[in-house]
Amino acid sequence: MKIVLVGSGAREHAIAEQLSKSASLYSIMEKKHPGIASLSQEVLLCNPTDKERVVSWCREKGIELGFVSPDGLLEKGVTDILASAGMKVASPSREAARIEWDKGYARTLLQKHNVAGLPAFKVVSSAEEASAFLAQHKEVVVKPLGLTGGKGVRVMGEHLHTEQDVLDYVSELLKKDKQALLEEKLDGEEFSLQAFSDGERLSVMPPVQDHKRAFVNDAGPNTGGMGSYSTGRLLPFMELKDLEEAKSIMQQTIDAMQAEGNPFRGILYGGFMITRDGVKLIEYNARFGDPEAMNVLMVLRTQLSEILQSIAEGKLIPVAFSTNCTVVKYLVPEGYPENGKKDCRISIDNKAIWECGGKTFLGSVYESDGQIYTTSSRTAAVAAQDASLERAEEKAECCTRAIQGPLWHRPDIGTPLLIRKRTEHMRRLNR
Ligand code: GLY
Repeated sequence: MKIVLVGSGAREHAIAEQLSKSASLYSIMEKKHPGIASLSQEVLLCNPTDKERVVSWCREKGIELGFVSPDGLLEKGVTDILASAGMKVASPSREAARIEWDKGYARTLLQKHNVAGLPAFKVVSSAEEASAFLAQHKEVVVKPLGLTGGKGVRVMGEHLHTEQDVLDYVSELLKKDKQALLEEKLDGEEFSLQAFSDGERLSVMPPVQDHKRAFVNDAGPNTGGMGSYSTGRLLPFMELKDLEEAKSIMQQTIDAMQAEGNPFRGILYGGFMITRDGVKLIEYNARFGDPEAMNVLMVLRTQLSEILQSIAEGKLIPVAFSTNCTVVKYLVPEGYPENGKKDCRISIDNKAIWECGGKTFLGSVYESDGQIYTTSSRTAAVAAQDASLERAEEKAECCTRAIQGPLWHRPDIGTPLLIRKRTEHMRRLNR
C-alpha cells in the first residue's frame, strides 16, 4: 500500500518508522527532514496547504491512504485536501479537528452532550465576565481558545500570582482573539490518553505522562513537552477505574461528535487529570502527542498502516501493545523555549545509541551539506523501552550522551525520585 504522511518532526519520524515497516511511504513536508526522507520512497517538499501541488503529486504517485499529523496542518484542512485527491484518509477533517483548535467549541460540545469530567469553565469576551468567574472560583487557569504549541496556558499560583495578573493576561488574549477560556484550577496528576477512532469505536493506547515544564523538578516555563514515560496498562499513580473513567469520557465525546454529524476519525488525545473528585478532562488534541507518540509507537504490536487503513474505512481493527515501560527525553537547544539557539551543528553517534539499547528520532532540525543543524525548537528525542522503568530510563539517559551539540535535556524524567513525587502527590489527595 502507498501511504502519504504529512508533517515532519520527531513524532512524525516515529510514525514514519512504523509505517515504512509494512507500506511504501511517501512524505510531504515543508523542509527536508533527513530521518523521514531516508524512510520514504519519495518526498514532496512544499507547503502542505498548496492544494494544487499536493493533489496532483498524490494522484501522480497513486497514493492510496493519507495521514496528516501536526495540529497546525489539521487546522488548515490538509486532511480535506488529501481526501479531495481521491484517497482514503485516517486523520480528522478540519471540522472534526476543531475539538483541538477551538477550545470554546470543545467545551460547549461536551457541555451540550453532558459528557462527564468537564471542569467549571467560562468562555469570556470581557474583563467583567472574567471578574465574575474569578469571584466564583478562588484559583483559575487561563487558556487561549486556539493553538499555541502548548505554551499559552497560564495557571494561578504558577504563572499568574494575583487576580490582577489574571485580568491582565485575559485582556492580552481579548485584544488578540476577542475571547479567552477560564477554567477552575484543579489539583491532581495529569496523564495523556491517546486513542485510535474510526468515528464510532475507540481503542486506547497505554497512558503516558508528559513533562511540560522546562527544568528539573517541574520548574520553569511551559514547553511543547520535555519527555514522557509509560508503564504498560496503567501509570504508577493510576487505578484501573481512572483509566475506565477517561475511556468513557472519550467514548462519550466520539458519540457526541457522531451525533452532531461531525465524526472524528483519527487519533484522539485526551489530556486528563486525576483529582480528588475523579478524572477531569483538561484538553483534547486531534493527533498523536509529541513526545507521547514515541512512547506508544515503540510498544505497538499491530501494523500502524493496517490500523490507519481500518480507521479510514470506518472499521477499526483490534490493536495490541506490549506491556514494556518506555521513556522518551527531548534534547533541546540552549535557550529553549523562549530563545532556542538555532543553526548550530549537532552530531549523533548512531552506534552508541544502538549500544545503549535505545533509538533516536530527529525533531525540528534541517540538513545542510550532509550535516544536521538546530532550529529554535526541540532538536531530537531519545527513546528506550524495557520491562523495568528504571532500566528504560537508564537506557534513554545513556542515549542522550551520544548526541553532541549545544543541547540540554531533563535528566529527571522517568527516574524513581520523580515517580515517587507523583505517587506521593496522589496519596496526599487522599482519594
Ligand atoms: N505533549 C503535549 C502535546 O502533544 O500537546
